Amino acid sequence: MYSILVLHGPNLNLLGRREPGVYGSVTLDEIARRLEEEAQALSVSLVSLQSNHEGVLIDAIHDAFDKHDGILINPGAYTHTSVALRDAIAGVSLPTVEVHLSNIHRREEFRHHSYIAPVAIGQICGFGADSYRLGLHALVTHLQQL
Ligand code: DQA
Repeated sequence: MYSILVLHGPNLNLLGRREPGVYGSVTLDEIARRLEEEAQALSVSLVSLQSNHEGVLIDAIHDAFDKHDGILINPGAYTHTSVALRDAIAGVSLPTVEVHLSNIHRREEFRHHSYIAPVAIGQICGFGADSYRLGLHALVTHLQQL
């Protein structure tokens, strides 16, 4: 059974009350519940972590090295700033899918660039909470084809 590390970056703990016009009204707990349902249907196991701290996310990626088969990550604002997060993903070389609730390419210019995209299999954005489910699906399909 594949084991997937699900990482949520800064401010995603505020989902549900954070800029609902942009991110919707679904909470992170509800996203976790839906992902768990999807994981059971796909017969994979999930370990999830949300952190507002770059180093905590980097440590979790390092720890994933021989524990998990892939990473599903919404890096939040670190998407647009963090070379360190990018290097951690490249360093462990685990298949990684980047997800965003909002379509970052339709938003402010500073959100158009992702440091993570070049080290990810792909990026899914713009589908609200459903981006996570679609991302998990894409990651598991990729792992099954390896
Ligand atoms: C986000 C998009 C980022 O630009 C933003 O900083 C976030 C959330 C998203 O899921 O749409 O925190 O990653």
